[in-house]
Amino acid sequence: MAIIRSFKEIPDNFKKFEPEVTVKSPGRINLIGEHTDYNEGFVLPTAIDKKIHFQFRKNDTENFCRIYSETFSTGFEFQLDKELSHGKGWENYILGVVNEIKKAGKKMEGFDCILRSELPVGAGISSSAALECGFASGLDQLFNLGFSDLDIVRLSQRAENNFVGSNCGIMDQYASVMSKKGNLILLDCRSLESEFIPADFKTCKLVLLNTNVSHNLADSEYNTRREECEEAIRIIQQTRPEIKSPRDLTFVLLEEFKNKINSKLFKRLDYVLHENKRVLDAANVLQKGNLKEFGKLMYGSHEGLQNNYEVSCPELDFLVDYSRKKDFIYGSRMMGGGFGGCTINLIEEDKIPDYIREVSKAYFEEFKIEIDAITVLPDEGTQISKTIEL
Ligand code: GLA
Repeated sequence: MAIIRSFKEIPDNFKKFEPEVTVKSPGRINLIGEHTDYNEGFVLPTAIDKKIHFQFRKNDTENFCRIYSETFSTGFEFQLDKELSHGKGWENYILGVVNEIKKAGKKMEGFDCILRSELPVGAGISSSAALECGFASGLDQLFNLGFSDLDIVRLSQRAENNFVGSNCGIMDQYASVMSKKGNLILLDCRSLESEFIPADFKTCKLVLLNTNVSHNLADSEYNTRREECEEAIRIIQQTRPEIKSPRDLTFVLLEEFKNKINSKLFKRLDYVLHENKRVLDAANVLQKGNLKEFGKLMYGSHEGLQNNYEVSCPELDFLVDYSRKKDFIYGSRMMGGGFGGCTINLIEEDKIPDYIREVSKAYFEEFKIEIDAITVLPDEGTQISKTIEL
């Protein structure tokens, strides 16, 4: 049963919106550790200073909910007491969260929500996790649902797995909720133990270059990579049942299986093992202030993603290769799931404007596509404020 009504015009009584709860929910970057989260490995992400802004209020109904996006100039309605059917795009992240809250047996009432986003969609900076986590946090406050931060992270990930259909790991939601301004999170995705690493990049800044391509392989190949790793582990388990994930493997052990799993599966696991090591090495050299070594690890990560995990694309490779010619760029790599989106670049701050001009021109000549450059700062995770005492 379709219970969503979509509309384009902002509802009249939304124009003077007095919120009871407001939420700032950030996008994320990942310095290193790609496709390792669902392999129980390590990642080094953080939230950024670009966010989705939410406003929430109760609307004195039992079940009627209305959401409006100022960014997309569209909204939709649904009822809490009806089964939720799938919407079109961004609606599903919201409905997925409502669905998971209902599954957790929590009681909500009718509410209104307005949101505005500073995050480009499809750029690999996790506008989806920002949407899920910000929305879940807002409802948690509005209705005193009693969720912990980690509950919000897990619930949002489940919304994406179960309702949206992307088999993502935990990194994006964790970074969006748990980050601390000026720090990176070294996260062990197996135990969820974490450590804050100061994001001290000296005279450098982090710049994202958005390829503005999003190859339609992205969703299907993401799930395929995950299945390939699982399949490789299943084969290894036939002789070594104690190996539960790539995390239990060593380089020596993997070598033993070189001829028993096919070369494609071997490459996938080989990448994951190397990337986990790179993350730990990266955290280490960063704490020592060694940006040169850190940058080398970023390039190593990109090569692995390009050649062994095979999730890059010509546009991303072009931008990473271009950066190699510049001694004021320490490191560059594709970021996120791959097949488009952004590269993340560590660049001397005073060289940034000239470099953006130069690389934009070269990229346009090659692909006839404009790139967008976004300078980002490591920032605080989800920020919630109650504007009225509930
Ligand atoms: C996407 C997923 C994450 C992670 C990255 C790749 O952003 O949502 O869970 O797997 O890709 O590192």
